Amino acid sequence: MFPWALRHLPGPHQEIFRYQKAVRGFICQEIIRNKLRAPEAPKNFISCYLAQITKAMDDPVSTFNEENLIQVVIDLFLGGIDTTATTLHWALIYMVQYRAVQEEVQQELDAVLGAAQAICYKDRERLPYTHAVLHEVQRLSSVVAVGAVRQCMTSTCVCGYPVPKGTIILPNLASVLYDPECWETPRQFNPRHFLDKDGNFMPNKAFLPFSAGHRMCPGDQLARMELFLMFATLLKTFRFQLPEGSPGLRLEYIFGGTLQPQPQEICAVPRLSSTCPGTREEGL
Ligand code: HEM
Repeated sequence: MFPWALRHLPGPHQEIFRYQKAVRGFICQEIIRNKLRAPEAPKNFISCYLAQITKAMDDPVSTFNEENLIQVVIDLFLGGIDTTATTLHWALIYMVQYRAVQEEVQQELDAVLGAAQAICYKDRERLPYTHAVLHEVQRLSSVVAVGAVRQCMTSTCVCGYPVPKGTIILPNLASVLYDPECWETPRQFNPRHFLDKDGNFMPNKAFLPFSAGHRMCPGDQLARMELFLMFATLLKTFRFQLPEGSPGLRLEYIFGGTLQPQPQEICAVPRLSSTCPGTREEGL
């Protein structure tokens, strides 16, 4: 009821405020750095936003101001870091768990990309299996199992159910990602969910890890790009496996806002390939 009171109460949550202060300080420095640059050449999000503040200066209802700029940058950091990094963690864990899938991805990468050093996002069109595997990682790991809390602004009706104005909505994204009517083996890792019978990539309308509608994740395109480039590059360069003597993987998640894998060790072994002559196989 009194969220502001938390700031004045002692306890471990005070650490959050200390981190928040540090992040705000960093963003303020970036804003100052951008202000010192030539205004006619906005180069990044902060400089474009600053230009917008100047443009909307005479608009009494404008929401463009420095306080909002700081908060939007914080939102982008908050929304974009843990989600993408956690998905990549799951991707590597599944590749260790499903060795045959890892090998098939690597065969496809080798066959299609050959000696090419850098992978680009457009390559996904020629890598249907790799693309499908990454989608299946996102589906099964369901890192944002429950989407952001929303409030209904007007009374409405969804599938015959009345939803009054003011209702708090918690979208259960996992229910779609594991819907037995939409997926052949909803609780099993199965890249075929995203492949047709000829091995072409096949989208599925129930693939909604970024949610849907007006308030769906604004970073979905960036996240897809980051995930593809990092996953394909890592799999092309390394073989992922358990360290010797490991008792095996633990696949149960930890709930920490996102559904995270448990801390555990896996090895990245450089792959012997024609692109890296003389590379030795060593655990990293
Ligand atoms: C695998 C990566 C990601 C997943 C699974 C994910 C998922 C989601 C989901 C489910 C929502 C809630 C949408 C809704 O309420 O309908 C959301 C919101 C949001 N995401 Fe992402 N996201 C990812 C990456 C990113 C990235 C890279 C950014 C930015 C750089 C980002 C920024 C945001 C922001 C700012 C919101 C809040 C939007 C709003 O309140 O209108 N996300 N994300």
